[in-house]
Amino acid sequence: MTLPRILLTGKNGQVGFELCRTLSPLGTITAVDVEDCDLTDPAAIERLVDEVRPDMIVNPAAYTAVDRAESEKEIAHAINATAPGILAAAAARRDALMVHFSTDYVFDGSGTAPYRESDPTNPVSAYGATKLAGEKAVQQSGARHLIFRLSWVYGTRGANFLLTMQRLANEREELNIVNDQIGSPTWCRTIAESVALILAQNQKAPITQNGIYHMSAASQTSWYDFAKSIFDLSPDKNKFKLKAVNPIPTSAYPTPAKRPAYSVLSNDSLTHTFGIRLPDWQTQLKQALEI
Ligand SMILES: NC(=O)c1ccc[n+]([C@@H]2O[C@H](COP(=O)([O-])OP(=O)(O)OC[C@H]3O[C@@H](n4cnc5c(N)ncnc54)[C@H](OP(=O)(O)O)[C@@H]3O)[C@@H](O)[C@H]2O)c1
Repeated sequence: MTLPRILLTGKNGQVGFELCRTLSPLGTITAVDVEDCDLTDPAAIERLVDEVRPDMIVNPAAYTAVDRAESEKEIAHAINATAPGILAAAAARRDALMVHFSTDYVFDGSGTAPYRESDPTNPVSAYGATKLAGEKAVQQSGARHLIFRLSWVYGTRGANFLLTMQRLANEREELNIVNDQIGSPTWCRTIAESVALILAQNQKAPITQNGIYHMSAASQTSWYDFAKSIFDLSPDKNKFKLKAVNPIPTSAYPTPAKRPAYSVLSNDSLTHTFGIRLPDWQTQLKQALEI
């Protein structure tokens, strides 16, 4: 059996870094980031695909600076919408599988029950709008594709909420954290492991279940409760300067980009289709903090 050639973007990102490791038993990986191929450059993308001749393209690279995207819409659109479309079109030409990642921020957050894949989208930020455009570009490319919508991704490297909270706990005595945005914090390693388990199924028989799948931690929380758990479970908590953590409403913490108040995803479709269920966020957080 010849194992597939896998082209992986965003190798230095949270999810891409982990995928580099979890996908390694599945084929020959060519992993790239912006220094190898700038995704704002369509010709560079075409050259890369011609060079690698992938059987599978896995694209966790993205413009993820949610607030900055409000003032950099064009560059965010180029990376989050145009580039996935070019990659997916190249995948279609080669009959390669296109694996792409999107976000809970495609929803407006007015829901009260976990969002299903078929629920109407209505992004309230420029970032969310560009990610939604990326989903559509991949869907319309004609490529066999899987699009995983993730939520509240964190890890123990890179830039994310977990590391920001730990840094602030070392610097400040008191913190105010938003308590009225509800979601499902998901460890990037759990995501990468789940994607690898799904793609391993593709090795035996090509995946035919094209489409969007929600992939997030089971169970939900607020940023405030997530932060409190980070402080409680951090191995270095005794060294923290932090003495008080206060819940505040979103209105007391204005940001350039609006965020959905409620962005919990239903993972039922992922479980029914691929037999995968991500653990609850508390279990993932404990595991992440133990490494
Ligand atoms: N982070 C979250 O909370 C979250 C939530 C839901 C969904 N998602 C989605 O999940 C996926 C993975 O997110 P993540 O948190 O792993 O993202 P990340 O850590 O920000 O990684 C993204 C990677 O893409 C690279 N990149 C940015 N601009 C590029 C360009 N012009 N050309 C080539 N590469 C470029 C980044 O490089 P630089 O670092 O050098 O810019 C980085 O290595 C993305 O599709 C994201 O939209 C993320």
